[in-house]
Amino acid sequence: MTLLTWSETLTLGFPPMDDLHKEFVDRLCDVEHSSDTELPGAWANLVACTERLFERENGWMRSSQFSSTDNHTIQHRVVLNIMREGLAMARAGQSAEVHTMATELASWFAKHIQSLDAALALHMRTSGLAADPRNTLPH
Ligand SMILES: [Fe+2]
Ligand SMILES: [Fe+2]
Repeated sequence: MTLLTWSETLTLGFPPMDDLHKEFVDRLCDVEHSSDTELPGAWANLVACTERLFERENGWMRSSQFSSTDNHTIQHRVVLNIMREGLAMARAGQSAEVHTMATELASWFAKHIQSLDAALALHMRTSGLAADPRNTLPH
């Protein structure tokens, strides 16, 4: 079983965001297929990738005075805090709990992309901000 597969429904048409989302899906797939000994490292990679993704999105929202910034950044903060707890659990050998967290995260991530991220990507595209090299260059 695959928790989350990259597909058209997850693609928002703002390539720097889509690329980071795809990387998240890849790291989540690594977590899903990790052995118990590999899990702490795989989860740490997922947390690092999520930090980069959320930082980038938060930056786009700040620089463009996006209207739903507060709600969206709070969601990012809450999820990242839970994921950091997951890292402690993975290091403590609580693999089953971490895999449950991965399943919940996959479902949250798909919903988040299709709601708050979709609104942000649309804002970036329709405002012309997506064409600004500062918004598209890799950080
Ligand atoms: Fe996102
Ligand atoms: Fe987001």
